[in-house]
Amino acid sequence: MRSVAERITMAPAESILPAPPPEAAAHSAQLAEHIANTICDEGGWIPFSRYMELALYAPGLGYYSAGARKFGSEGDFVTAPELTPMFARCIAMQALQVLEATGGDILELGPGSGALAADLFDELNAQGKAPKRYLLLEVSPELQARQRERLEKRFPGHMDRFVWIDRLPEKIRGLVIANEVLDVVPFSMIRRTGEEILERGVIITEAGFAFDDEALPEGDLKRRARNAFPPGDYDYLSEVGLAAEGLVRTIASSLEAGVALFIDYGFPEREFYHPQRSMGTMRCHYRHRFHGDPFFLPGLQDITAHVDFTAMARAAESGGAEVYGFTTQAYFLISCGLAVLVSARDPTATLSRLKGTSVVHRLINPAEMGELFKVLAIGRGFDAPLLGFQSARPLQL
Ligand SMILES: C[S@@+](CC[C@H](N)C(=O)[O-])C[C@H]1O[C@@H](n2cnc3c(N)ncnc32)[C@H](O)[C@@H]1O
Repeated sequence: MRSVAERITMAPAESILPAPPPEAAAHSAQLAEHIANTICDEGGWIPFSRYMELALYAPGLGYYSAGARKFGSEGDFVTAPELTPMFARCIAMQALQVLEATGGDILELGPGSGALAADLFDELNAQGKAPKRYLLLEVSPELQARQRERLEKRFPGHMDRFVWIDRLPEKIRGLVIANEVLDVVPFSMIRRTGEEILERGVIITEAGFAFDDEALPEGDLKRRARNAFPPGDYDYLSEVGLAAEGLVRTIASSLEAGVALFIDYGFPEREFYHPQRSMGTMRCHYRHRFHGDPFFLPGLQDITAHVDFTAMARAAESGGAEVYGFTTQAYFLISCGLAVLVSARDPTATLSRLKGTSVVHRLINPAEMGELFKVLAIGRGFDAPLLGFQSARPLQL
């Protein structure tokens, strides 16, 4: 979770953030050199989306591709499945409803440490309803290895059910789930200044990497900025996530029958491109601090942006799927039966119950993950109201 309660650090990052151990610093220097060479090879300027792709996913070096700790108290951030198995148990309730109607598999995108896969499979298995296949699509070989190790320890007799895939299947039936994945798909940074629309890119200067804005040719990015940015000619900077939209569109068009749930922090378009949000939403996460310097220790910090859920919903529709629901994480979890699941814990285990309850509170507290995180459900061939939205307050996309 990247909660609003965490410390905001906007001063030059290296003056405030803890220094990494020497071997991590050396790793980051190696990645910085790789990025610098790429910038030279590609003409001295690369779009920010390309910088982000290299910083997070350069094979063997990027933040997600290499061995940085990332998740949990020792890492850079905590996600909902890492906080408590209650999150997975709620998803299990939703999964039961979908799988009963459509059959098929569970496909998880970006399973991270494997926490959600382990707790979700465990819950379904305990009810005798585990899917035949639990597919894991993970772009990071390092994380794939961690997921396998975790699942092997927990389900030694069921490893034939877990299948790692390296691309989306052509046809998907069942439940797709992506928790905090869309926010780390490389996005473009677009700036309007007066009449001009520019794309933010990265160059090398004597002081290191720096932003450099170049005129944007006509095309999808420019059209999006013209249509979505608030009217006016004042300086306005924001992100456009065409690659994340492409991912949602592909899932939508591959769904034969089933539901895809995208859970992430973000807003509908009117709030995402709010006149007051004129500096965008790009944030970097390093040791539980967040700040705005993507050039700080590349490879040792996450780079993310909030999700424009209206754009994701449109992408799903253009891929032929329907939007089944959009609400806050708090409403979704409560609608899936969170309160019942919490009170069903062992009534004699008072201390662990209290601790568990305070962690669960973080999932639904409006000041933490409850409001900022949203759930978008898209799908095809499923006609009942989804459990997670039945008693939830719908939000306008
Ligand atoms: C912020 S982590 C979230 C991990 C996990 N879902 C959780 O909630 O703890 C983002 C995850 O998405 C993966 N990822 C990034 N882009 C992806 C893509 N295009 N397809 C699948 N996984 C992706 C990353 O490698 C990482 O596992």
